[in-house]
Amino acid sequence: MDKFVVQGGATLAGKLHISGSKNTALPLMAAALLAPGVSTLGNIPNLRDVRTFQRVLEYSGATVVHNPDTAQITIDGSTLSRAESPYELVKRMRASFYMLGALLGRFGEARVSLPGGCAWGPRPVGLHLDGLQALGATIELDAGYVVAKAPPGGLPGGRFKMTPSSVGATINIALAAACARGSSVIENAAMEPDVVVFCEALQAMGVPMEGVGTATLTIEGGASLRPIQFDNCPDRIELGTFMIAAALAGSHDEPLVITGGRTDHLGDAFLEAFAKSGARITEADGQLIVHPPTQIHPVSVETGIYPGFPTDLQAQWSVYMTQATGNAAIRDRIYTDRFKHIPELKRMGVEAIVVQDQVVIEGGHRLQGAQVMSTDLRASVSLVLAGLVASGETHVLRVYHLDRGYEDLEHKLAAVGAQIERVSYDEWADPE
Ligand code: UD1
Repeated sequence: MDKFVVQGGATLAGKLHISGSKNTALPLMAAALLAPGVSTLGNIPNLRDVRTFQRVLEYSGATVVHNPDTAQITIDGSTLSRAESPYELVKRMRASFYMLGALLGRFGEARVSLPGGCAWGPRPVGLHLDGLQALGATIELDAGYVVAKAPPGGLPGGRFKMTPSSVGATINIALAAACARGSSVIENAAMEPDVVVFCEALQAMGVPMEGVGTATLTIEGGASLRPIQFDNCPDRIELGTFMIAAALAGSHDEPLVITGGRTDHLGDAFLEAFAKSGARITEADGQLIVHPPTQIHPVSVETGIYPGFPTDLQAQWSVYMTQATGNAAIRDRIYTDRFKHIPELKRMGVEAIVVQDQVVIEGGHRLQGAQVMSTDLRASVSLVLAGLVASGETHVLRVYHLDRGYEDLEHKLAAVGAQIERVSYDEWADPE
């Protein structure tokens, strides 16, 4: 297994580039299956989740070629032959469940493994299933698999109101609706940039849609879909993570410059909280300069759907607040028990208390390097951030979680002055 060894105390200066968005790349890849022919997607990051999804697509017969050097992926949906996604692949990554909508749309039937829970809770898919039923599909459960079928002649389409608003369910339902006979309406649809860019790709394929970027999405089925050439958007969570890294450990004399990101994709709540913490950003010519605060002010946040504070930046914000001049509360209203990083951070000297859906962080404690364990993608990167400002050496174990969603993290951080390296280790070896 791999771990990161981080020597704390380095000052970050120089330029960092943001990779393509993981959470947009995956639905774009699913969308490419809807049209027979070769679609070319650009700005696709070289990540474990992308490679896993490539395997899922290939299992169904698609021909997929990813060139990490050009960040392009080509997907030929005309060779699609099997309307199934197996447990062995779906359990590695929940977003594989997008195959349900895509295969149901393409074949009129799909057999896709239920994803199960994840490290921070149950993560249901009821809305995905209810939404597909509202479009006219029948849904049955068979030995841990969801079996979805359209009536003869195809899905009629329909109207579905989701509560709460779900990114994944909006995408899954839209994939099927794009291939339905009639029109469909999703009310309280997710408005996250990942969903908006995915919808723009569907439009480029020839799907007539209204309300893209609003909470009411109308999708006209029945169009004949064409393959696309389409560029993925930059990863907003990677951007937010690096902004926090810059505020925590960036140089005052030579502030960190971030290229290729889109701050408008972060949502107002994050940008406002970041400004309140005392950090300042200036944007010009596609470059974002992050001026770190002289003193980090404590800022309490609550996660919410876009443009609310992203749950995927909550763990990183917790680490940021450990260095603030007072206490801050972080409430996660999307995933109410997503606090697996807190016990690990406590091993580094963080003073924090979790009560129900929030954690209160006591600012102003110097962190100490320690051995800490990654539990999920965003928790892992928060431990790396903590390592950057801790005294001594931090070993972040099980970075395979992090490799799911951060492209080349150690090299990107090392290039701006962080002391970080990837080291192989045997997790079960006895101490010397
Ligand atoms: C996506 C992101 C994930 C992010 C999350 C919230 C991807 C691959 N993953 O996950 O990184 O943390 O959005 O921004 O894009 N819910 C239900 N029933 C359902 C589905 C969801 O109650 O059937 C609830 C969830 O428990 C949660 C809320 O809806 O409280 C939002 O979850 P959702 O938007 O579906 O998250 P994902 O699409 O799984």
